[in-house]
Amino acid sequence: RGRTLSFRSRPQARDDASSYVHEDDGGLLIDGGIIVRAGSFADVKAGAPEGVEIVDHRPHLLMAGFIDPHIHFPQMQVTASYAANLLEWLNTYTFVEEQRFAETAHAERFAGLFFDELLRHGTTTAAAYCSVHKGSADAFFAEAFRRNLLMVGGKVMMDRNAPAALTDTAQSGHDDTLAVINDWHGKGRCHVAITPRFAITSTPEQLDAAGSLARRFPELHIQTHLSENDAEIAYTMELYPRASHYTDVYARHGLLGPKTLLGHAIHLNDHEAGLIAETGSIAVHCPTSNLFLGSGLFDLERLSRMGVRVAVATDIGGGTSYSMLRTLDEAYKIQQLRGHRLTPIESFWLATRGNAEALSLARRIGTLDEGSDADIIALDARATPTMAIRMETVSSLEEELFLLQTMGDDRAISAVYVAGEKVTI
Ligand code: GUN
Ligand code: FE
Repeated sequence: RGRTLSFRSRPQARDDASSYVHEDDGGLLIDGGIIVRAGSFADVKAGAPEGVEIVDHRPHLLMAGFIDPHIHFPQMQVTASYAANLLEWLNTYTFVEEQRFAETAHAERFAGLFFDELLRHGTTTAAAYCSVHKGSADAFFAEAFRRNLLMVGGKVMMDRNAPAALTDTAQSGHDDTLAVINDWHGKGRCHVAITPRFAITSTPEQLDAAGSLARRFPELHIQTHLSENDAEIAYTMELYPRASHYTDVYARHGLLGPKTLLGHAIHLNDHEAGLIAETGSIAVHCPTSNLFLGSGLFDLERLSRMGVRVAVATDIGGGTSYSMLRTLDEAYKIQQLRGHRLTPIESFWLATRGNAEALSLARRIGTLDEGSDADIIALDARATPTMAIRMETVSSLEEELFLLQTMGDDRAISAVYVAGEKVTI
């Protein structure tokens, strides 16, 4: 029982009330990890079995757990590393830190810490990069499976332009990815993603191998990075002289399509945006990372207008917060600088149902619809004294959401349910 908010479709206007359902006194009946009934508390209660346990979350706002469609599991200790730009940050910190995930005990320890941190911030599903080591993916999925979390993850494929201890080969990257798929895909709520890190760290042979896996397993997600930084783009064009632009590198290797998550996608020309739209690939905006690394200002308005599917993510450890609330706040500010307004309704749609649609998982997660998995969070807009004082003057749902996104963080997450089970945060 609580106030409930669930999105149906992408909001078209500032307060497009047809895009969501909001119940002031709502009920969600959960059975076997699924939301079997949703509506007003009175209606849900009337149809519930005798003696059903009632948990009262009023006045907090119940919504689907947040979804983070681009995050790096082995970068918990990379966050807040002082670097001038992406390539310096990768070489100086990231490619050093990720080497530690060769050790199973280290990967296992961090898998626990990683999911603790996601859940504390209200994120119940993520699409994560593991390290190049197969063992890091095993640790990631073993822990996700143990906790019954719906997680997308992949062993990173990278066979050049990185320290020897952090590279595979076209063949071993393929074989290890295949082994991860066989071991984990479809086990519990685990989804394996084909994960070539980005064009710079893969030879054409490795991208071919990734493309052949994508053809063999069309249901799998593909995740990579695209057009984040000017020096990265220039180097990519040197490494792939026959490609007409960065996006074409992935197109030529059969890596674009409706399951492809393209992290960042900041500096795209019209041909690239057109190709991304046409193939149904997803541009994943990572606002805190883009600001922190000085990468650029994502053009949400133009890409959306051109029909590109978009998602919003943290990109820890380039990103600076696990919180999707902090992430939505920075996304809003980037759009402000671009002269475009992101509405709070659209922002919360993005972090829940929008990201679920981007992952082709909207029938399972991202809403409180009947039949959805019961991955649910309770949000407290009075979580801090500053927020409570401001809430005294808030009179609409839209204002409350905007306050949560502007001032909220992990303290605003008051409860988290994974497949119907309350987890300790
Ligand atoms: N491009 C290639 N690898 C990475 C990474 O780990 N983080 C970010 N932000 N960009 C990348
Ligand atoms: Fe990233």
